[in-house]
Amino acid sequence: MDHDVFSPFIFGNTVSTKSFTNREEEALKLSRNLLGGTNTIIISPRRWGKSSLVEKVVLDIQKTEKLHKTVVIDLFTISNETEFFEVFTREIIKATSTKWQDWMDDVKQFLHHLVPSVQIGVKPNIDLTIKYDWEKIVQHTDELLDLPERIAKAKGIHLIICLDEFQNLTSFPEFERFEKKMRAIWQRQKLVTYCLYGSKRHMLSDIFNNKSKPFYRFGDLFLLPKIKEEKWVSFIQESFRETGKKIEPVIARIIPMIMRNHSWYVQQLSHYVWNTTDKIARFDQFAHALDELIYANQPLYQREIEGLSNTQVNLLKAVTMQEKQLTSTRVMQRYNIGTPRNVSKNKEILAGNDMIHKGEDGIYEFLDPAFELWFRKQYFKIPWIISEETLKDYDHKVVEKLKS
Ligand SMILES: Nc1ncnc2c1ncn2[C@@H]1O[C@H](COP(=O)(O)OP(=O)(O)OP(=O)(O)O)[C@@H](O)[C@H]1O
Ligand SMILES: [Mg+2]
Repeated sequence: MDHDVFSPFIFGNTVSTKSFTNREEEALKLSRNLLGGTNTIIISPRRWGKSSLVEKVVLDIQKTEKLHKTVVIDLFTISNETEFFEVFTREIIKATSTKWQDWMDDVKQFLHHLVPSVQIGVKPNIDLTIKYDWEKIVQHTDELLDLPERIAKAKGIHLIICLDEFQNLTSFPEFERFEKKMRAIWQRQKLVTYCLYGSKRHMLSDIFNNKSKPFYRFGDLFLLPKIKEEKWVSFIQESFRETGKKIEPVIARIIPMIMRNHSWYVQQLSHYVWNTTDKIARFDQFAHALDELIYANQPLYQREIEGLSNTQVNLLKAVTMQEKQLTSTRVMQRYNIGTPRNVSKNKEILAGNDMIHKGEDGIYEFLDPAFELWFRKQYFKIPWIISEETLKDYDHKVVEKLKS
């Protein structure tokens, strides 16, 4: 058996080729939207797989569509309009030229009166750097926003522009002015399609779902669901098999179940199980891996708690104990969560931070499954490691669920 193989489970980076699973329906829908000219907004809680999905769809489009060019920009580190346009122009020029030798000509043709400073790196680090003066940006904002359309028209192509962490733009000075311009110009473009997404659910909802905001109804708003349990189970089993290891069926089922199908955590837990497994993953490997996962994330969880007030922590306690009536006298007294006003304010804050959300049954629950396991142990001494017997119980439930 080959013991030097890499782990088939990836977390931390986006996954779009290796380690990417399922999402057939979502990928098809996104790809149809983008190729068909429908602007698309993707929203989901953190680390469910937005960036990976977009990356995957974009790679497929690049492979199969000659007349569609794609651009993916992560706005995470961009803090003002000048930086935005420097990256925006650079990526558009790079995506629409067939060879780097054309970059300079394109800059001259499409950006001549902006007189940017342009640098092209020398081999082997051939890359394009564009710098603008702030005054030019102010004078020519409209023209810059319309650059993709002008280039697409001149070159007889379509452009798909994906902007990750889109909510980051709201921190720009004078964002509101910029937001209006963006919307006005992008809406008119015929050859450019936008895909806008990011990890701050509530900020994105406010940009796209608020009737009084310019981006209201900008495109098809798409709430990315989780990957289904049965898909994870077969993905885990196959990944073990392909790397010359085995996993007991009950363990392959329990991983997504305990991590509530959360993409990042399913991958992380699977990775730890895989890593401690020599030949076949059983209960011991699972228990060890779960410990490892929670301890690895513990500093993060501690920091989250430190940022909360006492009544907020108390509210989390009530949520984790699955209390249904958070404003009933019994619950308010038992958990010391303050007045009904405190409760509703704190609910709003915790939901705004994506710590809790309202589940399908209308009851609040933790969004982060591993954080919850850690939290229950901290405050209620409920062990996260279940025994082999309870595991059998769990498994029974999972099997029933998979059958139904
Ligand atoms: N389709 C998929 N198949 C397998 N694993 C996935 C898939 N999508 C996401 N993951 C796992 O989830 C992790 C997070 O994915 P990704 O970064 O795409 O999520 P995101 O929603 O963009 O997160 P954030 O909100 O933090 O930006 C990946 O590193 C990977 O481990
Ligand atoms: Mg992302």
